[in-house]
Amino acid sequence: MNNRVVGVAVLGAGAVAQRRHLPEYAENKNAKIIGIFDRDEKRAAEVAEIYGCKVYNSLEEALADPEVEAVSVCVPNKFHAGYAIAALKAGKHVLVEKPMATSLKDSHEMLEVWKASGKILMPDHNQRLVRSFKKAHELLSQGIIGDLLFFQCNFQHPGPEFWSIDRTNSTWFFNKDLAGFGVMGDLGVHKVDLIRYLTESEIKSVFASSRTLDKKDASGKPIDMDDNTICMFVMENGLHGIMHFSWTNYGSQEDNGAVIYGTKGVMKIFGDYTDDIVVEMRDGVQIRYSVGSISTNTNQLKSGVIDEFVGSIVEGREPVVTGFDGHQALAIVIGAEESSKKGRWIEIEY
Ligand SMILES: NC(=O)c1ccc[n+]([C@@H]2O[C@H](COP(=O)([O-])OP(=O)(O)OC[C@H]3O[C@@H](n4cnc5c(N)ncnc54)[C@H](O)[C@@H]3O)[C@@H](O)[C@H]2O)c1
Repeated sequence: MNNRVVGVAVLGAGAVAQRRHLPEYAENKNAKIIGIFDRDEKRAAEVAEIYGCKVYNSLEEALADPEVEAVSVCVPNKFHAGYAIAALKAGKHVLVEKPMATSLKDSHEMLEVWKASGKILMPDHNQRLVRSFKKAHELLSQGIIGDLLFFQCNFQHPGPEFWSIDRTNSTWFFNKDLAGFGVMGDLGVHKVDLIRYLTESEIKSVFASSRTLDKKDASGKPIDMDDNTICMFVMENGLHGIMHFSWTNYGSQEDNGAVIYGTKGVMKIFGDYTDDIVVEMRDGVQIRYSVGSISTNTNQLKSGVIDEFVGSIVEGREPVVTGFDGHQALAIVIGAEESSKKGRWIEIEY
């Protein structure tokens, strides 16, 4: 058992910090929450009261604190790259929320600074840490459904105005300058990372259609970003697939599953509400696995992200998802955006 304790500062005290990062650091024996910074001082003070930690008045103050060895970047997307780069340059390990950046230029710079720093840069692509997806990865690697042919994934929920700390249509998620992307950058980025992980292949090209079907900003105007995106993908190993990302699933169940089709059968992950993984073989045999469910916006489960981040620091190893993976996922999101604008297939530029 490693007794080392990593001092942590959380940058941003909104929904993801309050519902995942802070409680999971508080529970982790190898982590100590040293302080919090948020542009909203009142919110930062309220959170600091709960966790008995300092309040910083600026990013610089947080990064200058010698007690802080690692940071969580939990601010709106526009600020991810700047905050992460500043933290890496200050010698801190960084867990950065997704999407890792809002442009490939910024993401390339993050990779350069990360490599020069010798520190950890981990994007919060938490689907890799969901037990059922981990189990699916293991089963697929063992060839349970043979050679992979096709995949179909969805990530759909009612929208970020029901999640973020300001639960109104004035949320920054509906502001293109702050968010950079709509649903493709918010939910799509998770699933493209997941499919890279599950299939151990890279996405080569994409054809996407993005639309604003329903969401309005605080002034009642349609948001100038996608609230629905449909993608077709071709991977380097020849695998084909489709994905649908939506902020307008107003039904009772979020859809966050994946179906993988292979030469020997089909694997459905979160395809029905009773078993987490169902493998249907060509001969009709069904194998069911109850491994563990997945968080929804209304039912938060431990993400495991903080344990992985802190574990990688104390054990001196790479985390299961790195800055490289964050960059790849961002490039796919940007490729999809370009495809939808141009109305044609796009080769992903990494
Ligand atoms: N990995 C996941 O599954 C997941 C889930 C939800 C959100 N997120 C990501 O987490 C990040 C934060 O989202 P959220 O849902 O917590 O949003 P939120 O609106 O609930 O909170 C954002 C917080 O950032 C603060 N803030 C805004 N600009 C700031 C700045 N420049 N410096 C310091 N503080 C600033 C706000 O005052 C607010 O407290 C986003 O990048 C989002 O994409 C990831």
